[in-house]
Amino acid sequence: MEHVITKTHVDEAAAYVRTRASVEEGALALVLGSGLGGLAAAIEDGVCIDYADVPHMVPSTAPDHAGRFVIGTIAGRQVICMQGRLHAYEGNSPQQIAFPICLMGALGATELVVTNAAGGINVAFGVGDLMLIEDHINLLGANPLAAPDEPELFPRFFDMTQAYSPALRTRAREAAASCGIELREGVYIATLGPSFETPAEIRAFRTLGADAVGMSTVFEVTAARAMGMEVLGISMISNPAAGVFDEPLSIDDVYIAARQATHKLEELLLAYVAE
Ligand code: HPA
Repeated sequence: MEHVITKTHVDEAAAYVRTRASVEEGALALVLGSGLGGLAAAIEDGVCIDYADVPHMVPSTAPDHAGRFVIGTIAGRQVICMQGRLHAYEGNSPQQIAFPICLMGALGATELVVTNAAGGINVAFGVGDLMLIEDHINLLGANPLAAPDEPELFPRFFDMTQAYSPALRTRAREAAASCGIELREGVYIATLGPSFETPAEIRAFRTLGADAVGMSTVFEVTAARAMGMEVLGISMISNPAAGVFDEPLSIDDVYIAARQATHKLEELLLAYVAE
């Protein structure tokens, strides 16, 4: 099978990263979503490593995704950041998308903070709102761990009842309160893309219990849980989902909203890491 995540490949990638930067056990892994890459500027003394240079990794082709790791510190805590992520809509396999998460886990990251831009399904949400992800629905039709068993890397079956850590969500709520940022909470549903959804799909997703829709995050969180990492997820609501208003969706609006919300998300992340 192509693109299977093996311990050998993860170890080779980790060995390469260690030639460029040291990563401590307990580091925070951070994935920056569409339009949110500017958050990497908050990382001090960052060493940048292009995905294309890392053995067994694929480069990011999505617009506005830098496609590199930035390894440094935020508020004294070591951070390994993905400035730009990999998506299924780029033609990447679930395993190619999950690989860097496994790599960051192997390097010593014990906590993953994932961010994304998402369409608001919940009609109470406004553009620019931040939503703490309480759970997700995987409509991608695949799972990055569906591969020959690799017991040295992850268990065959693992629990997803607390995929998004209740303790980390409490910390995020406290951080938001400390800087006066209002946090929404809800369920994220992942679709393949790259087309946006139809209004009928969005109505169906609302019935399924979803509050926001996007094209990422779920494979990464699944891999992180398999690696035993604790996960926090934050969606930035970049647009009302299809059909919520009678307007066509545009990726430019997504990027504009994300860039405008970057400052708020940065403030929240700094307070969260400092807690
Ligand atoms: N749908 C899917 N993905 C998205 C959206 C959306 O409306 N907005 C940002 N990412």
